[in-house]
Amino acid sequence: MHDYPYTITISSEKGGVGKTTLATNLAIYLKAMREDLPVTVFSFDNHFTIDKMFELQKRDDDVPDVHALLMGAKASEVVQTGQYGVGYIRSSTELGDIHERFKGPMTLTRMLAESGISGIVIIDTRPDLNILTQNALYAADRVLIPVKDLPSLENCKNIFALFDQRGIDKKSLALIPCLIDSRIKFDGIFKDQKTLLRAIAVNRGYRCMDSYISKSPKVESLNTNPDGKIYPILTHARGTEVHSQFMEITRDLLRSVDATKETRACLYHTWLLEKEASKKESYLARLEGLAERCLICGALLAEKPDDRSFYFETSDRTARGFLHGHCVSSMLCSTLYSLQENDSTFDAAKMLVADKANKTVSLLQPLLIEGGSPMLDYRQFNMTGEQQLQKNVDMPGFDAGEFNGTHDRLYLLLNEALAGFEGELRKNSWLAVYPVDAGNPESVLHEESYKTIHRLQKHFAETIKQST
Ligand SMILES: Nc1ncnc2c1ncn2[C@@H]1O[C@H](COP(=O)(O)OP(=O)(O)OP(=O)(O)O)[C@@H](O)[C@H]1O
Ligand SMILES: [Mg+2]
Ligand SMILES: [Zn+2]
Repeated sequence: MHDYPYTITISSEKGGVGKTTLATNLAIYLKAMREDLPVTVFSFDNHFTIDKMFELQKRDDDVPDVHALLMGAKASEVVQTGQYGVGYIRSSTELGDIHERFKGPMTLTRMLAESGISGIVIIDTRPDLNILTQNALYAADRVLIPVKDLPSLENCKNIFALFDQRGIDKKSLALIPCLIDSRIKFDGIFKDQKTLLRAIAVNRGYRCMDSYISKSPKVESLNTNPDGKIYPILTHARGTEVHSQFMEITRDLLRSVDATKETRACLYHTWLLEKEASKKESYLARLEGLAERCLICGALLAEKPDDRSFYFETSDRTARGFLHGHCVSSMLCSTLYSLQENDSTFDAAKMLVADKANKTVSLLQPLLIEGGSPMLDYRQFNMTGEQQLQKNVDMPGFDAGEFNGTHDRLYLLLNEALAGFEGELRKNSWLAVYPVDAGNPESVLHEESYKTIHRLQKHFAETIKQST
């Protein structure tokens, strides 16, 4: 079974609201209250609080850090075992250039899903909503937003707006009143800071945790001491109110963890795998219907697999397959210049045609008007679908099923690809011939490349409809 982490992100645009204190201490409490649960913490900030708190020995610059994780390093390489049994990833000062890699909002979710990290991951973010923070928000099963006053409560709306913009369920988001000074009392129904903050939050439709965190001089003092360390609340501030508040928050979170069957990472990963599988399936289906022969020379492609430089598809998608580069350029040379293979200029013309054909799509539509002489509407388009050439080519004898030497290859292709009942062609049908990479012709049927073909086929259908 693949392991997926339950992810908790601590975020607020406001600085100094207690994010890092919450992230680091939560990791310790979670580990203490559930020893067998792996807990991993890391930060997108560059003030190294996490390193100071958790590292067992002095910093070794060779050990990979958060930057390495974001560049795709394996979890087993980046997660260090730290103090109190908490796993941590070293902080980095080099996250500025990472933003390029993180254009998409779900990159971190994917990384966490593929990382093999299990248990709980806690992400401490910077006081902004840059793309890394956004990634951390979308990856989270639970987002804790510390608010300490009205301005920080104001700021929350940007996080909620981000979720709205992407249409993501906001049920993961929860505010938590932090740095609450219990000495401050108000008259009236909002008797203190936390009651006031909670009332305003609820009024705005924000979910607020039942717990809160008090402001405590003892807690504040934990990161100011002669040995330059940062001490945890659990070990060094047990006598405070904040200790029991952390216990309560941790219990609450563990209940959520236990109640969560499929984490965000798991759901996203399952979705990705399904998408991959269906891509693969459509690719295999596309491979399946291909013509076995080159419709121009008639050779079995399995026997003559080299030089499969073109892919053709008919308007109704009934016939599709690869054609030899040599066959296509000879056919076009005769079609466009009425040259036969034994003409002295044939080879030179063929080279020119081949060069052009490698960059363009040819559209071939037979025009068989009753009583009129058969013609071919030949068009060339560039790969973005702009028409570059149109030529009507006489096709003497085509309707009678005769060959005339010059157009033999063309007639063969049209008959093979567009044949309908009793020697007639399928009505209004046409075919397009696309250049492909002869080294790997099948790659044209891969999801991304095939999208282009699909789009162009539709575009050609419209172009033809307009001109008739
Ligand atoms: N419960 C508390 N009681 C008193 N002081 C606290 C408490 N929690 C945090 N502090 C202090 O408040 C300051 C800011 O806390 P912290 O660094 O956790 O906030 P932050 O939101 O991570 O800040 P930044 O946005 O700069 O990353 C620190 O000096 C910390 O010691
Ligand atoms: Mg911080
Ligand atoms: Zn051929």
